[in-house]
Amino acid sequence: MSVPNHVAVIMDGNGRWAKSKGLPRKMGHVQGGKNVEDMLYIADELGIKYFTVYAFSTENWKRSEEEVSALMTLLRSYLSSGFKKTAKNNVRIRIIGDRTGLAKDIQELINDLEESSKDNTGLQFQIAINYGSRDEIVRMMRSMALEIEAGNLSSDDITEEYVSKHLDTGDIPDPDLLIRTSGEQRLSNFLLWQLAYTEFYFTDKHWPEFDKEELVKAIESYSKRDRRFGDAK
Ligand code: FPP
Repeated sequence: MSVPNHVAVIMDGNGRWAKSKGLPRKMGHVQGGKNVEDMLYIADELGIKYFTVYAFSTENWKRSEEEVSALMTLLRSYLSSGFKKTAKNNVRIRIIGDRTGLAKDIQELINDLEESSKDNTGLQFQIAINYGSRDEIVRMMRSMALEIEAGNLSSDDITEEYVSKHLDTGDIPDPDLLIRTSGEQRLSNFLLWQLAYTEFYFTDKHWPEFDKEELVKAIESYSKRDRRFGDAK
């Protein structure tokens, strides 16, 4: 079985999972968070090197105040304690997305976690928070425009490599496999540039019930595919 180097996940279906159990939506997110923790061990055990999850999108602010607040509370708790434990297991943690739009205390937790895990050489774990791919591209273009205005950059310097390097994912390789749970088959503004040659895998399972067996199934499906990068066979 050929294991993808980088797996990215759109963790959908927390709400539907909770509903199916007669629980409030926020309990779906709590269970979804627990599943992220479990998946990190499983991904590492299977030999995946980079694991990226979509935790909160730029569009998620439109959800009810109660749900946004429950998600922020959950993220605070993981950033301040849960993922600190993760970092002790040699996992490097990086956050992608516009952190300037997050509460100051969350920004501080992010900085601490990134700083304390920066030399870790195990699983490379990326969490997308206040992330939208179009927003990421616009932020990158604005900073590029500033460099041009300052006379530090010319149009010839703008290459695919330059763009890749200046997105939030900087030196992180593009995903090999994208998984979206819970039946929906769309990208929802996630890593639009980075997914150019990525293989997609969709499953009806809701994120809280996506377990090791499901991840192995996704990898098996991936490893049977004939990956193409636009070149001839
Ligand atoms: C989509 O399910 C999921 C989210 C919007 C949030 C994802 C967050 C977590 C899994 C928990 C926190 C994350 C970390 C990294 C600790 P949905 O609510 O849209 O489900 P639905 O479509 O069934 O309503």
